[in-house]
Amino acid sequence: MELAVAPPMDSGQVRAGGELADSYLDVRDLTKIYATRDGVVRALDRVSLTAKRGEFLSILGPSGCGKSTLLMIAAGLIPGSSGEIRIAGQKIDRPRTDIGIVFQSPVLLEWRTALGNVMLQAEARKMEHKAALKRARELLASVGLSDFENKYPHELSGGMRQRVSICRSLIHSPDQLLMDEPFGALDSLTRDQLVLDLQQLWMKQRMTVLFITHSVAEAVFLSDRVVVMSPRPGRIDRVIEIDLPRPRTLAMRESPEFADYSRQIMELFLARGVLNEHPGGKAE
Ligand SMILES: Nc1ncnc2c1ncn2[C@@H]1O[C@H](COP(=O)(O)OP(=O)(O)OP(=O)(O)O)[C@@H](O)[C@H]1O
Ligand SMILES: [Mg+2]
Repeated sequence: MELAVAPPMDSGQVRAGGELADSYLDVRDLTKIYATRDGVVRALDRVSLTAKRGEFLSILGPSGCGKSTLLMIAAGLIPGSSGEIRIAGQKIDRPRTDIGIVFQSPVLLEWRTALGNVMLQAEARKMEHKAALKRARELLASVGLSDFENKYPHELSGGMRQRVSICRSLIHSPDQLLMDEPFGALDSLTRDQLVLDLQQLWMKQRMTVLFITHSVAEAVFLSDRVVVMSPRPGRIDRVIEIDLPRPRTLAMRESPEFADYSRQIMELFLARGVLNEHPGGKAE
């Protein structure tokens, strides 16, 4: 996806109110109201949150609470109704090309190889060919696709296709990566591998990541902080800091600390009626 370039930003910028904008991502009182045939839908209601540069933030919440809406506004693809998003002090009011975006389905060109699909982004950005090719190959190697760079999408598995699309989103070394349920369509084993791949890529490149997921385990595993949203209209319900050492391993998911974070989130969902342990009946 090609988006317009936002100018470089000054991280030491001072806001009109005199407050120092030291956070990289700053969502302020963001509300989004969609007009539909059946009236208005309030998708986001005064959402505020910040992320430091290089932070890995997951957004977790029930279907329809406005997660994708938030991501689309952060990408500059749709406007908010009120409030604003700033990246390093710069207000987002147009599509951005300085970021990487990964959606649930990989959207690859069928007539281009895996390498060709990654290079597509480099070509569109007019990156120097040799350097881009080297980086594309390194990225593909880092997610175990060296032997598949000359395969076409129909010759790749779903997990491989999504890996290619992640590599494509990172070819220009973006400071920020926006991911909307990137592993949602994959089987659980492939998901585990991609989560490990993503952790490794993030640890190497330290881009700021906004990662949308329905998976509590995925959010806890990957994040510095998990932002839990309430049912529509989406609000920030709680922000949970995940204090687990990195690199995190699959075995750590069985640890009491990990289980405790998952339990906190589950309890929040139960309390808000997002999950119901006694469907159709009364709780004891
Ligand atoms: N273009 C649109 N026009 C009208 N309403 C919309 C539009 N896009 C989203 N909505 C509504 O806004 C609300 C939030 O949608 P959104 O796609 O952001 O939710 P979500 O949290 O990403 O859900 P899911 O987890 O199912 O992907 C929903 O009620 C949806 O119907
Ligand atoms: Mg969504």
